[in-house]
Amino acid sequence: MAKKVTKAIFPVAGLGTRFLPATKSVPKEIMTLVDRPLIQYAIDEARAAGIKEFIFVTSRGKGALEDYFDHSPVLEQELRSKNKTDLLEILKNTNMDSGAIAYIRQHKALGLGHAVWCARRLIGNEPFAVILPDDVIAAEKPCLQQMVEAYNETGGNIVAAMEVAPERSSSYGMLDVEEDRGELVKIKGMVEKPKQEDSPSNLAVIGRYILSPNVLKNLNQLKSGSGGEIQLTDAIAAELTQNRDVFGYRFKGQRFDCGSKAGFLQATVSFGLARPELRDDLYAYLQEIMQVDKAAQ
Ligand code: UTP
Repeated sequence: MAKKVTKAIFPVAGLGTRFLPATKSVPKEIMTLVDRPLIQYAIDEARAAGIKEFIFVTSRGKGALEDYFDHSPVLEQELRSKNKTDLLEILKNTNMDSGAIAYIRQHKALGLGHAVWCARRLIGNEPFAVILPDDVIAAEKPCLQQMVEAYNETGGNIVAAMEVAPERSSSYGMLDVEEDRGELVKIKGMVEKPKQEDSPSNLAVIGRYILSPNVLKNLNQLKSGSGGEIQLTDAIAAELTQNRDVFGYRFKGQRFDCGSKAGFLQATVSFGLARPELRDDLYAYLQEIMQVDKAAQ
């Protein structure tokens, strides 16, 4: 049986340039969908999948993230004295048990692969998950939980996969499929951000991974790849040349690319509509602006 996955890496050391000027002082992962920061969605998903150790790869200027997961004694005392138990309950989800969370610095933004490599000593010789908080996934069963269940059957390496339009392949790591089993896809290769005409399939990797510790060894060997960065995709693809399995997993759920402005706005509307207390007003407003827009055409 495959070893249990209990550790997750959250690479949050990127510069977030697509959200400048906001990200000059606010880490991208603290930006909120309705009332919860992106990182809270990622943590909740990891907890649901049985993760017990949370490793953040951070960088300069990400202090707000560390504060977010700390206790807030003054605020908590104030809420307690006013008997605001519902708000205290909401705050509870943001607290982490002592020792459950670790922060590692990536001193230079050398790419996602490099960020994951920075956490190698905390992972040791165990399988681990990687969650990119910019990819927010709305799903009945949280995406990483779906993947852990699949991993418990297959072992090896699993990457979350979804179909994308052919012209979008240059924005993703794309999978070269050996055998399509439906939910699971056995992979024979991976290419980072290929041109449309060079893409081996329309299956793209998105920000959820379950990886073998060998991938960390592969990262040791890697020089920079596409875009001058050290690519995680290349280190996973190296597993194949060493005869270890890599699977794509077609998760059930809707993924929002919250690293882009359009994706972030779509997620805001979608998560807003999913909230019973907001739904009616937001829906009425959307209808109203659609009508005004139509009339103007
Ligand atoms: P992105 O490609 O979205 O880059 O990184 P970015 O810097 O966050 O944002 P833009 O493109 O400048 O707007 C994908 C994920 O990998 C992490 C990011 O924090 C994000 O979670 N990452 C990327 C690192 O941790 N270190 C890096 O060197 C690069």
